[in-house]
Amino acid sequence: MHAMVIDKYGEPEVFYAAELEPDAMGPEDLVIRIYATSVNPVDWKVRQGKLAPRLPSRFPAILGWDAAGIVVEVGSGVTQFNVGDPVFSRPAIHRPGTYAELTVVDQSLVARKPVNLTYLEAASIPLAGLTAWETLVEIGKIGAHHRVLVHGGGGGVGSYAVQLARAYGAEVIATASAARRDDVRKLGATQVIDYQRESFADMVHNVDLVFDTVGGSVQDQSYTVLKPGGTLVSIAKPPDPEVAKAHEVSAHWFFLEPDGKKLEALGRLFEQGKMRPAIGHVFPLGEIGAAHRLSQEGHPQGKIGIVVDADHAMTY
Ligand SMILES: NC(=O)c1ccc[n+]([C@@H]2O[C@H](COP(=O)([O-])OP(=O)(O)OC[C@H]3O[C@@H](n4cnc5c(N)ncnc54)[C@H](OP(=O)(O)O)[C@@H]3O)[C@@H](O)[C@H]2O)c1
Repeated sequence: MHAMVIDKYGEPEVFYAAELEPDAMGPEDLVIRIYATSVNPVDWKVRQGKLAPRLPSRFPAILGWDAAGIVVEVGSGVTQFNVGDPVFSRPAIHRPGTYAELTVVDQSLVARKPVNLTYLEAASIPLAGLTAWETLVEIGKIGAHHRVLVHGGGGGVGSYAVQLARAYGAEVIATASAARRDDVRKLGATQVIDYQRESFADMVHNVDLVFDTVGGSVQDQSYTVLKPGGTLVSIAKPPDPEVAKAHEVSAHWFFLEPDGKKLEALGRLFEQGKMRPAIGHVFPLGEIGAAHRLSQEGHPQGKIGIVVDADHAMTY
């Protein structure tokens, strides 16, 4: 199969086109012919070798952990899917990724593609959308009575977090750059704070839940905006339990554990029109290096979509 691969850690120039065999299939696995994928910051962190101590790459390595496409082969134990099914997935991060024509995924990580989304749109959802779902719905237990502060509301995860919190009826305040203010309002935030010119810590109080997608001093200052008993969830920096205790709040570190059933539930919110895809940039797979450069700059407009099969990525 055709793939964009790396055989050493480094800058985006390390990508090259190659023909490789797909990963070996187990009985619970299915093979997805990928029509589209997307870029997440974890992709370039792996490419740079930053995650090598925890997540060493086997070279030549295929990065990318979002897929939308059709099932082309199923293992003997696959009961949930058939050949020809349109699906999307956040595959296992320890297996070869999705910058390729084919990927092999355990059926438990796969969900039916929302019927009203193109493959390109669907591929923008699994990693970022599931991260928002698991942090806000499962840890944060958001509901109609909640005030939520989403940091980085215009980013890949933030764009879905703002919409998801709104879909659950919460009041959403977000931080974003001035250039993203209008877009983040349209996603459902009632107040958007320009983090480059304004201090959210001075402007926001009595929040039930802070979703920290930024870390650093942003996390440190976030404790002051929470109500006693409130919750901070970070995907960017492990919170200090002593600091959380001193502020009488609970604080959680989160690392995504993908799940096809949860992705299916998230997909239904898109089918019901309660959420919409948030893709600001599209690149063909052959230009994956340029897509990584954009992601690394840290200010993408929502998600970065990658077309793997130009004949099918924009179809339903
Ligand atoms: N732990 C996990 O399971 C997990 C899962 C997914 C992602 N992550 C991590 O979470 C982070 C965000 O991921 P992503 O996909 O959303 O990244 P992204 O698409 O690159 O978005 C980053 C966002 O951060 C915003 N930002 C930068 N500095 C900020 C600041 N000081 N205050 C507020 N916002 C700021 C940017 O806003 P502007 O563009 O408006 O400047 C941009 O929208 C990354 O580090 C990623 O690796 C972790």
